[in-house]
Order: sequence, then C-alpha cells, then structure tokens
Amino acid sequence: MTKNPQQRIRMAVFPVAGMGTRFLPATKANPKEMLPVVDKPLIQYAAEEAVAAGIETLVFVTGRNKRSIPDHFDKAYELEAELAERGKTDMLELVRNIVPPEVTCVYVRQADALGLGHAVGCARPIVQNEPFAVILADDLIVSHEGGALAQMVEQFERTQCSVLGVEEVPGDETGKYGVIDPVATDTPGLWDVRGIVEKPRPEDAPSNVAVVGRYILTPRIFGLLAEQTPGAGGEIQLTDAIDRLLQEERVTGYEFKGERFDCGSKQGYLKATVEFALRHPELKDDFEAYLRSRFG
Ligand code: G1P
Repeated sequence: MTKNPQQRIRMAVFPVAGMGTRFLPATKANPKEMLPVVDKPLIQYAAEEAVAAGIETLVFVTGRNKRSIPDHFDKAYELEAELAERGKTDMLELVRNIVPPEVTCVYVRQADALGLGHAVGCARPIVQNEPFAVILADDLIVSHEGGALAQMVEQFERTQCSVLGVEEVPGDETGKYGVIDPVATDTPGLWDVRGIVEKPRPEDAPSNVAVVGRYILTPRIFGLLAEQTPGAGGEIQLTDAIDRLLQEERVTGYEFKGERFDCGSKQGYLKATVEFALRHPELKDDFEAYLRSRFG
C-alpha cells in the first residue's frame, strides 16, 4: 500500500510501440504518435501535458519505426545552426524548446508488441518503486485547468492511491475502452473503482464510465503485470492488472475537466485538427472563413 504522504509523481511513461494500423500507410515508417495536429505531433502535446503536471522524467517505451521520437526530443544541430544563421529566431525557439532543459527523456525498447500492459511493464527498470503516470498520446486532451494529468496528480497527492482518468462515453461505445464499475465518493468527479473490464460489449459493461488514456499507478502494478496472462485480443492488458490491483489497494477514477479527442481514430483525429486550427493564433481567422465559405 502507498501510504507515504511524501510520494510525488515524477515520471510519466509513454507507450509508443503500437503498430498504428488504423492510419496505414501514414504509419508504415512513422509512429502514429508523430502524426501532427496542425503543427505539433501528438507526442509533443502529451509531453507538454506531463511537464505541466510537474513530471521530471519522460519514459518512452518504443518499438520498431520509432527513431523519429527520440530525434524529435533531441537536439537537431544542423537544423538549429541553419535557422540561427538565417536569423529565424522564432523557429529556432520552436525546435529548441520541445521540453524544458531540466526534463530528462529516457527510452526503453519493447522488443515484442505484447499489449499495453506489457509496454508499461517495460518501464519497470526505470520507474522502479515509485508511483508514476501513464499517458496514451492518441487521447489528446485540451484543458484549461492546468491539463488533465495535473488534475489527476492533485487527486493523487490528496489520496495517495492510483487514479484513472475517466469520462462518460455513449453506452454503445464501451467496446472501445476499459470500463470501470464506479462507486461515488464525497469528492465531485472522483469515483472509487470496484472493478474494471477491458472493452466489454454494452450488455456486459459495468457502466459507461471509461478510462481515457491517463493513469497514475502505484508501483505494485509492476509485480501484477509481470505475472499477467493475456486477456482481450490475446494481449497483456493493463486493465486486467488494474482489476487485480484494486483487490489489494484503493483505485479511483477521476473525471478531469477537459475536452478529449480520440486521435487513435481517423474521425477523432480530423475533429482535433479542425478544432486546433480554429484555435490557432495564425490560422483561426482564415480557416474559419474557409469553413464558412465551404458550408455556407
Ligand atoms: C487502451 C486501453 C483501454 C483504454 C484506451 C483509452 O485501449 O487498453 O483500456 O480505455 O486505451 O484510449 P486502445 O485504445 O489502445 O485499444
């Protein structure tokens, strides 16, 4: 049990070894996390959300075709020299400060793609024995309350137990998510989790409260993941290990304030692109005018 009130969330794990099959051929040689929404790749939005939550170490669990992710967070000497020489200081700032200098990036390779649970387990040698966050970059979340993860960290600091980022989804969409069996608490938006099921059919779902790509987990999860047998889709599921975790310790679900775009689907990705363009300082006026002329 995690009872030490001093515990802080210092590390975030980013599983980025998935195949990205829904976006082929765009993801043939490039990870889906590098797909841009307007002018920033999904993984950068996720890293910025982590940094805003006070995370100091970003742990990327990578696989095949993932070299562009370390490259993105690394220095780009030639590009920087070229931009400096041409006096393009704005652009230089954009490529230089992807994450603040005090934030460390660590890369772990997941040799076999055995599922999300297996990917998270690959971060164990780095994270070791402290509570940590997991961010799935294809759930892109916009929030004016400091970011979804920052709100979850606040809950963790209060309760010192695992927190799952949750949202109510339409009843016929439970098959896309890990779905919790929620019990109300005294804190608005905070549920106690009595059970969790990976991708249940609507008739089998314990509720319509679904996990949406944000987790804060105690390190006990690593021991459970190490002995986790394959579940839905023949994969080692993080959800199944969480279902065992909650039999040992308190696990909560928090409905963060924010707007989520499911960028793991083409429809959600396009919605995010349109919404971000409509909010982009350089683009919004022209883009809105274009949409108006297009749709009347
Ligand atoms: C994963 C998790 C699922 C969660 C979802 C959120 O599924 O297994 O429990 O609800 O992310 O996006 P995936 O979308 O990778 O199939």
